[in-house]
Amino acid sequence: MVADDKPASTFKYNEKPVYTTSNGAPVEHPSKWQRIGTQGPLLLQDFHLIDLLAHFDRERIPERVVHAKGAGAYGEFELTDDISDISAIDMLTGVGKKTPCVVRFSTVGGEKGSADSARDPRGFAMKFYTQQGNWDWVYNNTPIFFLRDPTNFPLFIHTQKRNPQTNLKDATMFWDYLATHQESVHQVMHLFSDRGTPYSYRFMNGYSGHTHKFVKPDGSFVYVQIHLKTDQGNKTFNNEEATKMAAENPDFSTQDLFEAIQRGEFPSWTVYIQTLTPQQAEKFKWNIFDLTKVWPQKEVPLRRFGKLTLNKNVENYFAEIEQVAFSPSHLVPGVEPSADPVLQSRLFSYPDTHRHRLGVNYQQIPVNAPLRAFNPFQRDGSMSVNGNYGANPNYPSSYRHLTYQPVKPTNPHEKWAGVAVSEMFDEIKPHDYEQANGLWQVLGRTPGQQDNFINNVAGHLSAAHQDTRARTYDMFSKVNPELGAAIKAATEKNASKL
Ligand code: NDP
Ligand code: HEM
Repeated sequence: MVADDKPASTFKYNEKPVYTTSNGAPVEHPSKWQRIGTQGPLLLQDFHLIDLLAHFDRERIPERVVHAKGAGAYGEFELTDDISDISAIDMLTGVGKKTPCVVRFSTVGGEKGSADSARDPRGFAMKFYTQQGNWDWVYNNTPIFFLRDPTNFPLFIHTQKRNPQTNLKDATMFWDYLATHQESVHQVMHLFSDRGTPYSYRFMNGYSGHTHKFVKPDGSFVYVQIHLKTDQGNKTFNNEEATKMAAENPDFSTQDLFEAIQRGEFPSWTVYIQTLTPQQAEKFKWNIFDLTKVWPQKEVPLRRFGKLTLNKNVENYFAEIEQVAFSPSHLVPGVEPSADPVLQSRLFSYPDTHRHRLGVNYQQIPVNAPLRAFNPFQRDGSMSVNGNYGANPNYPSSYRHLTYQPVKPTNPHEKWAGVAVSEMFDEIKPHDYEQANGLWQVLGRTPGQQDNFINNVAGHLSAAHQDTRARTYDMFSKVNPELGAAIKAATEKNASKL
């Protein structure tokens, strides 16, 4: 509250609120600071000035360790088609039901001030404020990822960021990782196609990538993958356009999203699901817990079930987008994670980083707060600002009963047994190159896309060390011998000019 006894956010632009110190005392003028005489030193007692400077000194919070640059908006999810045969999730029950949400798009490797048009995967994270808690979809714009071994994530990210000595982006480090972890090649194919430089956030798809489970009250379940297809159509920059845009307007995607929504051009995505029964999954050619693989759509067709629309810009970027905190572990009754080890690791990593970046009470920040929550066993901690559950007991007290609502499904539905093992399961097999070649064929359907891919790789790879280049040609040759040869020719031509 400020001096006029109104929440600060309710002031209209034509009102003239009384300016005060942070403790609410009126200030005659912000520049009337206290000093000795007209030229002498300042006074420590001048709370307004000291407090202003001290607060400014602390304005920055840690940026996200990945996905630091982003933009977002509010919107809604509408259930457009009945899927009650596979789901009992509240948000997905009752055709026509609308659920409010906040969405944040991002690049991955760059710092908070980096260019929106960089060649990079894009994050596509959604928080749905459902009647049964917040459900986060923390997706990317590619249906797969670079790795299937979670210990590789920090190592991989290090190689895509800056060299520890030079503090420069480093093509050798970048390709050295990829060529020595060839399970990444499918995602590399996406990254170096023109889909690696989307025109802006409105013109790209979103994919769960991971397998999840939709569980019914009787304990039966299906494995699912979710796809959001842009209703604006896929639109990309080519390499030259993306590079030019990075120099001319590094915030292009951010601006494009904000201005489209201001104009009333609300971007939307049609949402589809792929499903496999546990029996189908067991016989499926592809390991459904391997994040480097898609479920081919001819074998597992897409089924439409919803629409996501963004229709409202935020009032305050820091409060609502910088402080938004997504996690794949923010789930609701009826959906469960699969055993995918990368997903399992992400369940830990996101709340952990939020506690570091935003504090232990990050769920109390308004943009993160669910419609209702009552967990008085979590108390105190830095920045507890929601009343801290008042006088409610902080343990299951005999003098204040809580309602423990049965959460369906309650049946055990998945059984795992085995001895604890610690094994590398990242051995590369010939079939690891198959879907990458599938994408190479998909690129061939649109004139110019294969040529762009080769040039996009060559432009980047030519700056890498000779041995690394050779290992990378070998990797692409395993995808398709002609592809390997074409990349070698184009890259060596570039390298000879450096
Ligand atoms: P399909 O021919 O049934 O599907 C091809 C998919 O490729 C479509 O979903 C399409 O998405 C997408 N696509 C089209 N053009 C491009 C492009 N230039 N860059 C990237 N993606 C593009 O084949 P499969 O399902 O058997 O998959 C073949 C390959 O397509 C896979 O190896 C995979 O890399 C890629 N792919 C597969 C997806 C899946 O979930 N099965 C999803 C996306 C890509 P859209 O309709 O949005 O244009
Ligand atoms: C952001 C970890 C894989 C999508 C982040 C952040 C961390 C992280 C620490 C920063 C979060 C924050 O500060 O708010 C990991 C780890 C992974 C992994 C450890 C693998 C082991 C993935 C995958 C996807 C993904 C496979 C997509 C399918 C995202 C998105 C964001 C993000 C969209 C940005 C969220 C936002 O907009 O705030 N990740 N990640 N990540 N990650 Fe991952």
